[in-house]
Amino acid sequence: MGLALARKAVALGAIVHVIGRSQERLDAARLSIGDIVTHRADIGVEADVEALAVNIPHVDHLVCTAADLAFKPFAGTSNEDIERMLGGKFWGPIYLVRHLTKRLAKDGSVTFFSGAAAYKAIPGASIVAALNASLEGLARTLALELAPIRVNVISPGVVDSPVWDFLPGDARADTLGAIGAALPRGRVGTVDELADAGLFAISNGFMTGSVLQIDGGNNA
Ligand SMILES: NC(=O)c1ccc[n+]([C@@H]2O[C@H](COP(=O)([O-])OP(=O)(O)OC[C@H]3O[C@@H](n4cnc5c(N)ncnc54)[C@H](OP(=O)(O)O)[C@@H]3O)[C@@H](O)[C@H]2O)c1
Repeated sequence: MGLALARKAVALGAIVHVIGRSQERLDAARLSIGDIVTHRADIGVEADVEALAVNIPHVDHLVCTAADLAFKPFAGTSNEDIERMLGGKFWGPIYLVRHLTKRLAKDGSVTFFSGAAAYKAIPGASIVAALNASLEGLARTLALELAPIRVNVISPGVVDSPVWDFLPGDARADTLGAIGAALPRGRVGTVDELADAGLFAISNGFMTGSVLQIDGGNNA
């Protein structure tokens, strides 16, 4: 979703900085999109974000789509699993806001990506649900504390992105097909549909403290 949003923002003429942990994936992003600035950093490590902030003097819009999540029954979830998940989806947004808001334009915005697990319970997603919900609480409060900077959340439902690549062979298409078939829209989402939602949050000057659910009717 982050990559799709970066591609759309570049097409609109924005100067886009893309952050990730894997140099290989950053190089691939630069090859596929072209004109972006890439930064190798783990946003769950505060020193990485501090170093990053030094190299980005001005920010109009900050978007965080990072997540590295484990779906496991609660009883089988270790503290190590939880710590790993906290990095991208909890500490990352906090460190980015802490170190980049002083560089953010007053008419700029912050957008976090949460997820539908916060609304509709799924066995195996207890920590994911907790992290998604926590981001939404964080965003609503920051919308007051950082005002007039706008702070919003996009809450995706199931979306066909590389996050599902762990499923082998036909299992990937079969699983996404079955999940999609149970939704009012009859299919899962695309990264472009979520990127469009991200662009909307960036560009709508009256939207702040909001959660936009783009989930094919998952919560209907
Ligand atoms: N896809 C879905 O079905 C779905 C459903 C509900 C919610 N969501 C949420 O929507 C957001 C975007 O999902 P997606 O499907 O686009 O995920 P994705 O394809 O896995 O992309 C997530 C990106 O985050 C980066 N990342 C993870 N941890 C990081 C860290 N600590 N520091 C820096 N970069 C980090 C990863 O790059 P590196 O590994 O190279 O760092 C990866 O490129 C996530 O918050 C996800 O939880 C997704």
